[in-house]
Amino acid sequence: MKRVQKQKHEMAQKKKRRQYTMIGLVVLGGLLILIGVLLRPGDANIPEQIDVSDQQLVATGQEVYETYCAACHGFELEGQPEWQQPYADGSLKAPPHDETGHTWHHSDAYLVESIKLGGARLEPNIGVSAMPAYEDTLTDQQIAAVLAYIKSSWPQEILEAQSAR
Ligand code: HEC
Repeated sequence: MKRVQKQKHEMAQKKKRRQYTMIGLVVLGGLLILIGVLLRPGDANIPEQIDVSDQQLVATGQEVYETYCAACHGFELEGQPEWQQPYADGSLKAPPHDETGHTWHHSDAYLVESIKLGGARLEPNIGVSAMPAYEDTLTDQQIAAVLAYIKSSWPQEILEAQSAR
């Protein structure tokens, strides 16, 4: 091979190698992002932690409940008086969390989301709710605990009905 030709050939090879390296890096980056997304601790991890038979968890949940929730939802989980009637300004009252309310009509995932996002999650046509968002106040563990406490007040058949939601 003539010298010039050889140089050209080498340059073409180098360029190819660079291209392969780039492609390799992009694929690797994509894989890392995918692994990150798959391993991310998401809401889906929470329901398994809501163990009603874990007395320590239920006790922690009671503390969380009495500190943050009882003022609206009632110290006996009874909700606000006449909770089914909205206030005069149309805003919603806090429903009970015992079996007389509709908390147990919802899945764990929905309840976790309700606590994290509060009243702001509701579509305007459903109503205005003064419930605060707790995603920056409570840890996932505290949210699991407060739900374990709420659920510990439900009779077995309600627990079973809710677990199918
Ligand atoms: C300022 C009053 C207020 C506080 C404090 C409050 N809530 Fe609420 N909560 C409401 C109102 C009003 C609703 C009904 C409207 C709605 O769903 O946002 C509600 C609804 C809910 C619901 C949905 C129930 C259902 O059946 O749809 C859950 C779950 C809930 N609250 C849990 C909690 C927990 C747990 C806490 C404490 C960490 C808490 N709330 C603190 C006012 C409050």
